[in-house]
Amino acid sequence: MPLGEQISGAIRAAILDKRLAPGSRLPSWQDLATQLGVSRGTVKGAYERLADEALVVSAGAAGTRVSATPPRRAKASTVISEQPYSGLLPAFYSTPLPFQMGVPAQDAFPAKIWARHRTRAVRADAMASVGQIDPRGHPELRTQIASYLAIARGLQCDPDQVILTAGYRNGLAMVIRALALGGSKVWIEEPGYPFTKKGLELDGMELIPVPVDGEGIDVERGIRACKDAPLVVVTPGQQAPTGAAMSPSRRAALLGWAARSGAWIIEDDYLSELQLSGRAMPALASEPGGDRVIHIGSFGKTMSPALGLGFVIAPLELVGRLWEVATYLQPAPNTTTQLALAGFIADGHYLRHLRHMKALYSERRDALRKRLGDRITVEAMSGLAVMVKLPPTINDVALVRSVVPQGIAPMPLSIWWSDRAKMAPGLLLGVTNLRPKIVDAACATLEAAIASSN
Ligand SMILES: Cc1ncc(COP(=O)(O)O)c(C=O)c1O
Repeated sequence: MPLGEQISGAIRAAILDKRLAPGSRLPSWQDLATQLGVSRGTVKGAYERLADEALVVSAGAAGTRVSATPPRRAKASTVISEQPYSGLLPAFYSTPLPFQMGVPAQDAFPAKIWARHRTRAVRADAMASVGQIDPRGHPELRTQIASYLAIARGLQCDPDQVILTAGYRNGLAMVIRALALGGSKVWIEEPGYPFTKKGLELDGMELIPVPVDGEGIDVERGIRACKDAPLVVVTPGQQAPTGAAMSPSRRAALLGWAARSGAWIIEDDYLSELQLSGRAMPALASEPGGDRVIHIGSFGKTMSPALGLGFVIAPLELVGRLWEVATYLQPAPNTTTQLALAGFIADGHYLRHLRHMKALYSERRDALRKRLGDRITVEAMSGLAVMVKLPPTINDVALVRSVVPQGIAPMPLSIWWSDRAKMAPGLLLGVTNLRPKIVDAACATLEAAIASSN
């Protein structure tokens, strides 16, 4: 087929299928000709053919645009894609709904200060020498994270042990790759964070659910179930979802078992910096025997999930291996954002922001608890959420599916359990975005839904 016809054919198909939106701008003939390695006349001829068919309109110096009302044709195929946990979460990029978990208070984000640090970082990044980007992340941010962890989490590490990631899940993927444990057994908390379980399963690992009580994971039961598991994933600071801090004796038992058996412990520190009441426990990785602990942190819940930044603290034995994974498979994300965050932490804004957020979330949590009163039974304070119990006849997943379209997004508790026989229906009600003026309406919607499902 002549080149001009190939070009007009590809653009025609994209317009008819709406891959090129009505009114969108086509590249200039010169740019497209250079890109495709053909003469300008060839591209010009293709555009003229499309204009004759009324698919595009030429606006002289303003370029060529897809016409506002191009004809539509039936699509030959459609991409069928269903979001994991479909119906339980609001649409991507929508404003966070009341009770939604995992999104910090949007009304309290320090946007001005952050914008200033970002602008500075864009300038620094544009002028920087980019001959070689360190796949572990920018040294300025790795240094800031190491100092912050020493002060706030009691964790002493060298900046060379800090490897930047796109958040907790990305860190988990990096660690699984580095350990090359595909197909082995792994202890997970029961109940525990569903994304961790799915992530480990995707990598072919066999899950060994180990019960959690008021002291965290029950190490003795783990040893009885599978003594030789080479890996365990825990949330020792604040167990997700029960909120329990792992007790000193359990910490010692877990670290002792790992030292004896050579197992690795992944510490998901997602919630620990936002402990709303009581003293925050130090990181498990900071304890004697912490050289078996791989500590994973995320800025998703303290700053914003949109930042896409987190970190792994590599135990000395794994520094080289994790560096290799970062180099060959998973280099650190976006340098500009890293530099902005480094400046934000260095100037003291991060700890100040955490202090404000803790006060705000405590207020929002107390207001929710007060509003729920004895109408809905509060089971526990679960990190940045309130855990409530539902009558055993209610299907919590179906309940959540029915309330998301009504504008609230609690999380069903049952999906945090592996053993269906043990799970009791309940809900996790995130408090971070529960502004005072929406609490009452959100609770009324929830109460009505519970009453009609009962
Ligand atoms: C316990 C726990 N860990 C990790 C994450 C996810 O972190 P990220 O978004 O950084 O992957 C969440 C999110 O809600 C969580 O609850």
